[in-house]
Amino acid sequence: MELSEPATLTDLARRSHEVITRYQDEGGAYPASPTFSAYRGFAWLRDGSFTAEGISRYGDVGSANRFHDWAAGVLARRRSEVDALVAERASGVLPPVEKMLPTRFTFTGENGSDPWWDFQTDGYGMWLWSAVTHARRHGIDPARWRTGFEVAVDYLLSSWDRPCYDWWEEHVEQRHTSTLGAIHGGLVAVADVLDPDRRAAALRTAAEIKALVLAEGVTDGHLAKWFGSSAVDGSLPSCVVPFGLVDGELADATLAAVAADLDVDGGVHRFAADVFYGGGQWPLLSALLGWNLAARGDREGAMRYLRWTAAQVTADGELPEQVPHHLCHPATRDEWVARWGPVATPLLWSHGMYLILADELGLLEEDSA
Ligand code: BGC
Repeated sequence: MELSEPATLTDLARRSHEVITRYQDEGGAYPASPTFSAYRGFAWLRDGSFTAEGISRYGDVGSANRFHDWAAGVLARRRSEVDALVAERASGVLPPVEKMLPTRFTFTGENGSDPWWDFQTDGYGMWLWSAVTHARRHGIDPARWRTGFEVAVDYLLSSWDRPCYDWWEEHVEQRHTSTLGAIHGGLVAVADVLDPDRRAAALRTAAEIKALVLAEGVTDGHLAKWFGSSAVDGSLPSCVVPFGLVDGELADATLAAVAADLDVDGGVHRFAADVFYGGGQWPLLSALLGWNLAARGDREGAMRYLRWTAAQVTADGELPEQVPHHLCHPATRDEWVARWGPVATPLLWSHGMYLILADELGLLEEDSA
């Protein structure tokens, strides 16, 4: 699809809304990718939280509400499970990774039965941020989701300091800066909705996270992929916008390092050592970097990322998870195609991020549902 602006950039926003809502499960979950072998039948809190933010900005309050109702319900049903995990940790025993809450759920809120890299805490923080941000934007009383918020907050307060798999479901042995950024953003966003004890604990933990990252998560003046690493990761801009973990020179240096190491012609890689499908460029990460530039007033820089993201759309109007124009490790692509088939397309998270950046650049103003 040949895209020229502004009309066709706006068309892709309309199309993104269509793709996301067409595949939203009737119970509210946003499937990560409806047709992709390894993701079919599952909804991730991480993907869904950003997808819901895009849909909320597009103005489809009903669709975003259904997602947050679903997520809050799923978590509310985990109350006793979380109470048991919190009690175990409080008694000085570290619950095993296999007992922790999952990163992805079936549409009815169950754990999957096949093995997955499930212990990832970032999505719980993202969901808190996404639901509260949506509620504030549209004048909804966030107390509607309070029971789910309390479960997510209690879970995070008791487990935020543990190493876990990262946004890319890798390296369970590390403490990942972007994971901590998402937890920080969620705890700060939800604090006002909580009872006084939880509010105080949430804000205290957010401050601890920030101090810890400043002490251990900085290399060469920029945020590091994980504590002690010298590499960056395409998810790190989220520690600036939207999760507000860092600002000032550290934020500037982090955005600059991500662009220098991972941006090739506007397409952003996850990290230099990425071998998944050869390690291509991810539209959702170009949109994340663009969102950061837009938020700091660099409209031209942000438009460059929006245009690159839009140019990745297939003839069917779908955005994939990644594209192979530039691969970090070309030799590893075929083994993934053989294992899981073609790259996940559409990826709802890619469409959600496109909506966020399009909104940030004012392209949705006349187009909202
Ligand atoms: C990515 C995750 C994502 C999941 C579902 C994985 O390949 O690494 O970030 O949440 O796919 O889209």
